[in-house]
Amino acid sequence: MRLLVTGGAGFIGSAFIRLVLARDPSAEILNFDALTYAGNLENLESVAGRDNYRFVKANLCDAEATERAVAGFLPETVVHFAAESHVDRSIFAPKPVVDTNVTGAFHLLEAVRRHGVERFIQVSTDEVYGSIDSPDEADENFPLRPSSPYSASKAGADLLALSYLTTYKLPVIVTRASNNYGPYQFPEKLIPLMIANALENMPLPIYGDGQQVRDWLHVDDHCRAILSLVRKGRPGEVYNIGGNCALPNLEVVRRILAATGKPESLLQTVEDRLGHDRRYALTSAKLEAETGWTPEIEFDQGLEQTIDWYCANTEWVERVRSGAYREYYEANYSRREQQLDRLSMARVKP
Ligand code: NAD
Ligand code: DAU
Repeated sequence: MRLLVTGGAGFIGSAFIRLVLARDPSAEILNFDALTYAGNLENLESVAGRDNYRFVKANLCDAEATERAVAGFLPETVVHFAAESHVDRSIFAPKPVVDTNVTGAFHLLEAVRRHGVERFIQVSTDEVYGSIDSPDEADENFPLRPSSPYSASKAGADLLALSYLTTYKLPVIVTRASNNYGPYQFPEKLIPLMIANALENMPLPIYGDGQQVRDWLHVDDHCRAILSLVRKGRPGEVYNIGGNCALPNLEVVRRILAATGKPESLLQTVEDRLGHDRRYALTSAKLEAETGWTPEIEFDQGLEQTIDWYCANTEWVERVRSGAYREYYEANYSRREQQLDRLSMARVKP
């Protein structure tokens, strides 16, 4: 397999590279990543020295750099993870999100169109379906009703990618996964933030009433699903990937407090997220029927493993929270956006 992975230094991309090299030690991989605040080569230390793994630091917003990487490597398969992935940041500062998630995806699709590829996987999200009333759940034909600049940018990229199949016959597959958790996730997302704060006895900020429902999927289950689609997915199709584990946020956070032995007095209700989606729900029946994939990691077991990982890697948390984050924001965001963002970080790290 000759595989170009974008965003391979991030949370899910790095797990995917580790999985591919464990399953297929001869796979040739090029990791294309701009190393934003969320990208971290420490996540790939276990594979860094291998001859068949290469890294290029480059930005998808740079069309020429994207073209150079694709032309130089000539991948058979592209798995496109790179994105600005955090909803709160997309609300404070939408421009970098639209630049990377829409224009960046466009540059990549253009480069791949020029050189040809056997599979292009657009890694997307259940957030494109928007908030879904109980008891409904989204299948792949559910209408797209994104609520945030992040989810709208992902929906835009999904539609653009699918248009390249219709128009140029590029073999595109779109995947839409639910909320991932697991080791190496940047501590801005719910589960790692709550674990990291609990370990430091800091407040755990609950948006609104905490009754918003998310479906939780272990990152390794997500990566196994993508790999099964690289092998068996049908071009032009969309596949949902869910964890069969829908829980209200407050319940997730309470389980973290119980598992870390910390008191409920750390819970702190804060102002709600703007446009906050109440409930996500999806079915992965199509993926399961076509590939035989099912999620293997039960939530409580995966959460315990994740907590153990964060307990053993407090220095990693400290490094990603302090260094890279500030440098990236100072270089890419306006003074006002930085100020807003600091307020948000201040809310979680007084
Ligand atoms: P992440 O924020 O941890 O990593 C994103 C990676 O992309 C980083 O390594 C970053 O440096 C890189 N990147 C960002 N902008 C770039 C650019 N312009 N050029 C090149 N590289 C760039 O994100 P993640 O949580 O690993 O998510 C990966 C993908 O999966 C995203 O497309 C996201 O939308 C999707 N997704 C995430 C989840 C989740 O729960 N985290 C769920 C479903 C789908
Ligand atoms: O559903 C898939 C999506 O999951 C991915 O596409 C995104 O890339 C990923 O960031 C994630 O988005 P969410 O907005 O669902 O994840 P987040 O971890 O930011 O928030 C999960 C829920 O927890 C959400 O309802 C908001 C709430 N929350 C979050 C944070 C950070 C809190 O109550 N407090 C917090 O401090």
